[in-house]
Amino acid sequence: MQRVLVTGTNRGLGLEFVRQLLARGDRVIATCRHPGKALALTELAAAHPGHLHVLPLDLASERSIAEAAREAAALTNALDMLINNAGMLVSGERFGAIAHKSLTDSFAANVAGPVLLTQALAPLLEKGKHPRVLNLSTRLASIAGTTSFGTPSYSMSKAALNMATRQLATALTPHEIIVFCASPGWVKTDMGGANAPVTPHDSVAGLIKVLDAATQADAGCFVDYKGVEIAW
Ligand SMILES: NC(=O)c1ccc[n+]([C@@H]2O[C@H](COP(=O)([O-])OP(=O)(O)OC[C@H]3O[C@@H](n4cnc5c(N)ncnc54)[C@H](OP(=O)(O)O)[C@@H]3O)[C@@H](O)[C@H]2O)c1
Repeated sequence: MQRVLVTGTNRGLGLEFVRQLLARGDRVIATCRHPGKALALTELAAAHPGHLHVLPLDLASERSIAEAAREAAALTNALDMLINNAGMLVSGERFGAIAHKSLTDSFAANVAGPVLLTQALAPLLEKGKHPRVLNLSTRLASIAGTTSFGTPSYSMSKAALNMATRQLATALTPHEIIVFCASPGWVKTDMGGANAPVTPHDSVAGLIKVLDAATQADAGCFVDYKGVEIAW
């Protein structure tokens, strides 16, 4: 049994993480912006009494992050895993019309949020068993792999999340907390769209395997959902 906090759990990969972690008996704190509207989570909580707690969290709000960390500490005295899954993609951006708000919103949700949440939860992770932090990144964040213009706010913010991963890994290695980032693949969700070749089930099953197998040697690495390294 592991104690896990997952962000962005009302839909997509976050919801699938919650399903698979509960199915194997883990205890999950699932966060989302509007718990009252998260019907799938309410049903899962009823089906797994005592194993799922749902907390409100908007990663773009420093106050919401501090409040969620306080509530998490009231629910558990330790965390074994933090899955920084929530993320946003502004679609349809064109060069010549990139908006300041698209950039700042993306950096707030995709970088500042996960960094501040990890910092706020570090004391609980320090008390965890073999503690790990997974940041959900993307191949679109690979600077080495970028050869055309597209989704600049998303790609740049996720590239910054990759740097944040290395920074956090360095800061937390002395506390034996393993921090790494992974791409889930191109997955059929609201973000990935209907043409994506990977199912949420297969992506999340792969990522959970990677998390379970992670050792200190994986701190600061960037891999795909099968554990294969991706070029920065
Ligand atoms: N799907 C893919 O092909 C793919 C590929 C590469 C990487 N990823 C990454 O994988 C992760 C999950 O993606 P997904 O496909 O499941 O996306 P999704 O279906 O669009 O779901 C995104 C989740 O993030 C939440 N979220 C967005 N902004 C937030 C904020 N400011 N505060 C709190 N929660 C916020 C959303 O909540 P609301 O419902 O409230 O908006 C939702 O729960 C993301 O980090 C994404 O970048 C996905």
